[in-house]
Amino acid sequence: MKILLATQKPFAAAAVAGIREIVEGAGHELVALEKYPEQADLVAAVADVDAMIIRSDKVTAEVLDAAKQLKIVVRAGAGYDNVDLAAATAHGVVVMNTPGQNSNAVAELAIAMMIFMARTQFTPATGTEIQGKTVGIQAFGNVGRLVGQKAAALGMKVKAIDPFLPAEKIVEGGAEPAKDLEDLYATCDYISVHIPATPETIGSIGYDLITKMPQGATLVNTARKEVIDEAGLEKALEARPDLKYVTDVMPDNYAVLQEKFGLRVFATPKKMGAQSKEANVNAGLAAARQIAGYFETGCTRFQVNK
Ligand code: 3PG
Repeated sequence: MKILLATQKPFAAAAVAGIREIVEGAGHELVALEKYPEQADLVAAVADVDAMIIRSDKVTAEVLDAAKQLKIVVRAGAGYDNVDLAAATAHGVVVMNTPGQNSNAVAELAIAMMIFMARTQFTPATGTEIQGKTVGIQAFGNVGRLVGQKAAALGMKVKAIDPFLPAEKIVEGGAEPAKDLEDLYATCDYISVHIPATPETIGSIGYDLITKMPQGATLVNTARKEVIDEAGLEKALEARPDLKYVTDVMPDNYAVLQEKFGLRVFATPKKMGAQSKEANVNAGLAAARQIAGYFETGCTRFQVNK
């Protein structure tokens, strides 16, 4: 089988070497398309491939139409909002993710972003400490739990909410359950966002929620830019000069936010939460193993378009 590693944002060399070893060891061929400049390059590369390993690469209906031999796509990572699941299902293509494999890298970045903003973006201005503050975790999945553990170890109080978890599971995970989302926002000095981008969550964090945050609070988004209502965020930062926003997913209105709010906002130019060597290796090798396993035994564990 021909397996395409399509990574617009490339993996570390160690991850690519590990993927190659697994793929070739299972008797398949690996071709790599890295740092490609245009989506058309991806469309052209899929014509004769049987499987794909991707990151945030966009597997659209156009890609799926062009990939006549494609049987399986594994998103080496957690979020699969970049894959047109309905089109994949219509084409009979199995889609999987690799949950948990890059979570630690993202959780470390969320903590780093809290400290970066608390210390006024590492400028000499007097900042604050995160010890003794409360962090509210919005969605207590693989990343959210790790953020909670690390925050607790740093002396923070941890609250959380998750629409898919009962309160006792949140307690088991080491956090205090918030009464509801409004309560989480109203009672936490930091909110760390870990929700996926879905029709229900897109644009769901806006003016009303953000302005519920207490004096001097910071919103930390290492999830997806789409979950923020950017106009609402701008309005909230305007109305509340004490609030801050930090994100690993540059908002469309970032230039305006920077101009208006200076050091109260920060965005990474390209999503880098999962961009550690360890996360690359964990997620990349898991993806390769899942593809080899699918071709060998038909295993569909981690399939997301069932
Ligand atoms: C994920 O959903 O796993 C993260 O957002 C990482 O995305 P990336 O592989 O594009 O860095």
